[in-house]
Formats: sequence, C-alpha cells, structure tokens
Amino acid sequence: MVKVVVIGSSSMDLVVTSSVRPGAGETVLGESFKTVPGGKGANQAVAAARLGAEVYMIGCVGDDHYGKAILHNFKENGVNIDYVKPVTDKATGTAHIILAEGDNSIIVVKGANDHVTPEYVNNALEIIKQADIVMIQQEIPLETVAYVSVVCEQYNVPLLLNPAPAREIEEEIIERASYITPNEHEASLLFKGLHVSEALRLHPKKVFITEGKNGVRYFNGSEEVVVPTYVVEAVDTTGAGDTFNAAFAVAIAEGKSYDDSLRFANRAASLSVTKFGAQGGMPYRKEVEEQLV
Ligand code: RIB
Repeated sequence: MVKVVVIGSSSMDLVVTSSVRPGAGETVLGESFKTVPGGKGANQAVAAARLGAEVYMIGCVGDDHYGKAILHNFKENGVNIDYVKPVTDKATGTAHIILAEGDNSIIVVKGANDHVTPEYVNNALEIIKQADIVMIQQEIPLETVAYVSVVCEQYNVPLLLNPAPAREIEEEIIERASYITPNEHEASLLFKGLHVSEALRLHPKKVFITEGKNGVRYFNGSEEVVVPTYVVEAVDTTGAGDTFNAAFAVAIAEGKSYDDSLRFANRAASLSVTKFGAQGGMPYRKEVEEQLV
C-alpha cells in the first residue's frame, strides 16, 4: 500500500442545479440545492483512499457544522485526519457551485483553508518524510505551495502539483515539483508565451496537460504523446480533475509506467463524472481495474 500525503483544501460544496446559468444582474429559478463534501485537497485525499492508498490529509476546517461533517467524511473514507485541525477564527471553506448547461461554475471562499500555512505544515514533517508521494493544489496560500516544494526536494519525496485553480507560479516551484498536471487554461498561465509543445519539451515526464475529452498530453523524452480518455455519459464533472490527480499519483507511486498511470487515471476520472457531487462518483480500486481495457 503506498503512502500518499495530501496538503490542501477541505471545503463544503454548496451545489445548485439549474437549466440555465444566470448572466450578470439576472435571477433565474434553479431546480435543486445540495451540500456535499468537496475542496480539491479533500477530494484528492478521498479519491486516493478509495483507490487503495494509505492517505494522510494535512488541512484545516472551521470549528463548525461543515467542519464536523468534513471530518466525519474523511473518517468514513479511511483518510487519516491527525493533521486536520479545526480552527476557531475562520469558518470552513465553501465552494459555491452552479451546475448548468452541462458544466459547472465555481466560486471558492477559502475560509479556514488559509490556515494551511508553512508553519502549519511544519507540524507534519514526520509524515511528509515518509510519504511515497505528496500532492498539493492551489486553494491554500501560495507560500505554502512554495514551502512544500522545498521540503519535498529536501527529503527527496516526489511532489505532484495540481496547479488549480489557475494562478502564476514561480519558476523555482515548477523546477522542484516532480509532476505538474495543469488543464489547458492553467498551462497557458504557467508557461506564458510558450507553445504547448515547447512547454512540454522543456519538462519531459513532468508536465501532464489534461485536455478534457481529448485525454492527457505529455512529452516522454522522445515524442509528444496523448493518452486518450474514456467516453462516458457525464452527470457532473466536478471533481473529475481531482480523481485524475489522485489516481495518477497512486499509480506512479506504485511504480506503474507513465502511460499505464495515465490510463488508470483517465479511467478513474471518467467513472467519477457518472454520478452527482465531487466525491459522489469517485470510484474504488476494483471498479477502475475491472473497466481498464
Ligand atoms: O475540483 C473540484 C472542487 O473544486 C470542488 O469540490 C470545489 O470544492 C472546488 O474547490
């Protein structure tokens, strides 16, 4: 069993479904409202645990109803929460999601996730040292992402950076990360002024660009490869990227090849979109393996 440490956000997703998305200044009638656990960090932790990894979450929630529900959800999914702290001066992070016209729009209010600081991460150095892989995203302070990249390099622990939501990142962080998984929009911000192929060639076997229904593009050292994804009937694409990242991290940590890891991750992500909620469709190991062709 590989050991995965996830450093990131834990939020409550407040999800409205509607047939249309309101424009600026417009009010529309929606169809349903649900609250479900989310946050990119928590989603990745839950996905990795369902795929068979031993998972440690490093994060913060508020000392409130949502925070308690999130902690309960971690426990139910077998995620270790020794390093998830309820804080008293900020509410649990929330993501305000509209599901309409076949896609989502999300506004994240970070709340307690802002407490995932470098100092906070220092409390968990022992577990980081022992990790087979560390995963991080960008719903926590930027200085924490920078700090974790230094720590992982120092301890020689592979770091997977999922640069979502999009923001510019210092060159040093890109250099220190072992794997970076931007979507096309995030890649254009990370590698401003570079053509996609140029950016990939500069970072062989490190940058994996997720291109939605096309699959995942990377440079394997001699050529650019696209590993195709699986076509499914999507109910809710929220959390597909998180499932992809978790599955890729688990497979890479287990020693699978890049192409096999990407196939595994694409299969897991394609299954995740067939049910409602970021974590609702996240598959268990057996389901992914049964449907890998
Ligand atoms: O990646 C999906 C997640 O992004 C949602 O669960 C929501 O919390 C947002 O942060």
